[in-house]
Order: sequence, then C-alpha cells, then structure tokens
Amino acid sequence: MADYVVEPSPAIAGRLCVPGDKSISHRAVMFGAIASGTTRVTGFLEGEDCLSTMKAVAKLGVSVHRPGPGEVCVEGVGLRGLRAPGSVLDMGNAGTAMRLFMGLMAAQPFDTELVGDASLMRRPMERVAKPLREMGARIETQDGRPPVRIHGGAALRGIHYDMPVASAQVKSAVLLAGLYAQGETTVVEPAVTRDHTERMLQSFGVEVRARGGTVTVRPPSRLEGTSIAVPGDFSSAAFFIVAACIGAREPVVIEGVGVNPTRTGLLEMLALMGADLRLVNHRNAGAEPVADIEIRPSQLRGARIPERLVPLAIDEFPAFFIAAACADGETLVTGAEELRVKESDRIAVMARGLDAVGVRNEVLPDGLRIEGGPIGGGCVDSHGDHRIAMSFAIASLRAAAPIEIHDVANVATSFPGFVDLARSAGLKLHERP
Ligand code: S3P
Repeated sequence: MADYVVEPSPAIAGRLCVPGDKSISHRAVMFGAIASGTTRVTGFLEGEDCLSTMKAVAKLGVSVHRPGPGEVCVEGVGLRGLRAPGSVLDMGNAGTAMRLFMGLMAAQPFDTELVGDASLMRRPMERVAKPLREMGARIETQDGRPPVRIHGGAALRGIHYDMPVASAQVKSAVLLAGLYAQGETTVVEPAVTRDHTERMLQSFGVEVRARGGTVTVRPPSRLEGTSIAVPGDFSSAAFFIVAACIGAREPVVIEGVGVNPTRTGLLEMLALMGADLRLVNHRNAGAEPVADIEIRPSQLRGARIPERLVPLAIDEFPAFFIAAACADGETLVTGAEELRVKESDRIAVMARGLDAVGVRNEVLPDGLRIEGGPIGGGCVDSHGDHRIAMSFAIASLRAAAPIEIHDVANVATSFPGFVDLARSAGLKLHERP
C-alpha cells in the first residue's frame, strides 16, 4: 500500500496544467462507442477510472486506439452494435462508469454483470436500478450494491422521473437508457447537477431539451461520431486552487480548466470566504466552457456554506475542508449527506484526518463544522480515497510538522502525475511504496 509523506511546504507557485476531466472522458468513450463512425478524443484522462471504461467498451466489441498521449479514437459500432462481453465488466473504483453503464446495458439484447473494487462494491446502486426498472429494465443488485446483474432483451419505455437525490450519475443513466426507449424520457432534478451528458449528447447530434432542472431526451435513430477536446478537470484543479488560497505568496495560474457552471461551486464557496479568484482567457472546448484560473494570496474567513452550492462542488469538499481548516473562525457545511456514499464516507474520513492533524471539527449527519486554526503533523488514513489523499497533501502548506498519508494508490484513478505536479509547484511531497 503506497503512502505519501509531506514535509511542511513553504509556498506554492507557478502556472500549472491539470489532466483531462474524468466525467467528460468517461462519456466521450461511452457515447463514441454507440455512435456511428469514428469519435476522436483529445485531452483524455488516462487515469485508472477512465481506462476501466475504455476496457469495458473494448470488451463490448468496440475498437479503441490510442494514437498518442491523451488521444483516443473510438470506432463506434452504432446504437445497436454492442456485443455480449463474454465475462463480467470490471469498473474498478469508478462509480461513474458503473452507473452510466447500467443505463446503457439495460437496453442491450444480452446479459451483463458489473463489478468493481472493494470501495465500489459498497456503493449504492438501487438509486439507478429503480428508475431503470420503471422503464422496463430487468436488473438485480445485491442488497442494493454491486454486483449488478442486468438481463438483456428488455423493451424499455420512456418515463418521467423525479429524482429523489441530486445525482448526475442517476440522471445520465436514465437518459442513456432513454436513447433506446419507446417515447420520450424526462428527468427532473431536485437541484442542478453537472450537465456534461446533456451537452455531449447534443454534440453527437441527439435532441436533448434542458430547462430549469428538467431534461428530456427523445430516442434518436443514430449518434454521429464527433471530435471531443476534453478540458482540464476542475476537480483536479481544486487541490491547487485551495493550495494557492492557503499557500501562495504570488499569483498562481491553472491553465485550461473546464469551468462549466455546474462544476464550479468551489469558486463561489471560496469567494464567500474572501478568496481572490479570477477566471481569465475564456474559450470553449466544444460544448464545454474553459478558462484559466488565477488565484492571488488572501486570508480566508470561515463561512456558512449555502446548501444550493453542495451539488455544484460535490467532489471538492475534501479540498474545501482543508481551506476551512486554514480560515479564521468557523465554517459550516450542511446538506451534504451525499458525501457519505462517495469513494469513502468523506464526512467521517475527513473528520478523522482533521482530528489527526489537530484541527477541531464536529461531525454532523449531513456535513461538518470546522474551526480554523493551526495544523500539526500526524498520520492520516485516506481509506483508499484519492481526493482525501490529495487534500491532506496540500494541507502541508500550513502544517507545522510532516503529515503521513496512508493508502494513496488510488490517486491514479483520477490524477495521474499528481506527485510530480505538486512537487513542481513547491510541495515537499514524497511517495513511499
Ligand atoms: C459524476 C457525478 C457525481 C460525482 C462523480 C462524477 C459524473 O456523482 O460525484 O465524481 O460524472 O456524473 P453523483 O451523481 O453520485 O453525485
């Protein structure tokens, strides 16, 4: 099991680039697989999660080439061209892959079984299975968790689904099944969640109507292969945004980051705390907005975080809790119970980690109260959660003594090259096999 050891790091500086967006990379390969013709992807995230999606697509009979770094060519087989995989599809650590594949596999003429690593095998899947069953799919979970068994040959019908949880994965799975259903499929979200599926389906020529939290898809006759330039992952940039807020002496710039407004809640949360952040050099990468993010030094103040921002920053809370630990006064996050069913229980695991480095906090059923103050050294167990490992690495910018972070191998699921980038920016980070 690999560990990080981070010495107190004096400052972070530079112009940085983060790897491609995980959510968009998964979707590019998956949608490319069922398109007609070739889909060319650049900036693809070559992290383990997206490689799991790529392997699954190959097992389903789709030819996928990697002509160069970050480049993927998917030879789409058309909406009805996927073939039975012959064995289980292993999604590794990737919740997005498992849930989106559930939607896609529900409509196929063959049976599929989806499994994953120990963390994924504990995560809830009924939230996806239930609406898919309403559409006519035949799906079994084991006490609500994987393995997920999907029986082929079901005739799906479009539904109107009011989602009980704000989840882009559930929304996407239902919309993907909707591509194969009879009639229109409509999903209503209780709060805005990331809309990459809607944007990307439109790039593939699918008619998608999205307004005020209601998304409707009409089954197309085909998806047209296309080109997709994947922007830098805002969720990976988040570690360096927080690092710059707590540990920069001069402006830090992160270049080419996806700034889709359904993803950038962290910027609003940090701005509420007094951070000095600017988006510059706006452009588009296909259907997605991109910008450079400029962060200037500032002293953060504790804040009460509006619950409407939670789904817009759902993956950024581990990093945000480190920002809160470095702020003056108290920060309160509520309405974030979804954090308990991510790669780990991110409320409990972050709270234990903060305890280990001497940051006072109170665990709430749906969030965390954090008292900003000095950060000490200590041993933190990331519980195999990539985002928790990276969050405590950046805490070293304010730590008085070394922090050891255990079980960090899964950083490779979302952020290959994290150690090198962090070191080049000034973190005194070492990896121990
Ligand atoms: C994702 C949606 C979010 C997020 C995950 C990626 C996606 O999950 O946490 O990392 O790509 O659709 P939920 O839909 O469970 O909130």
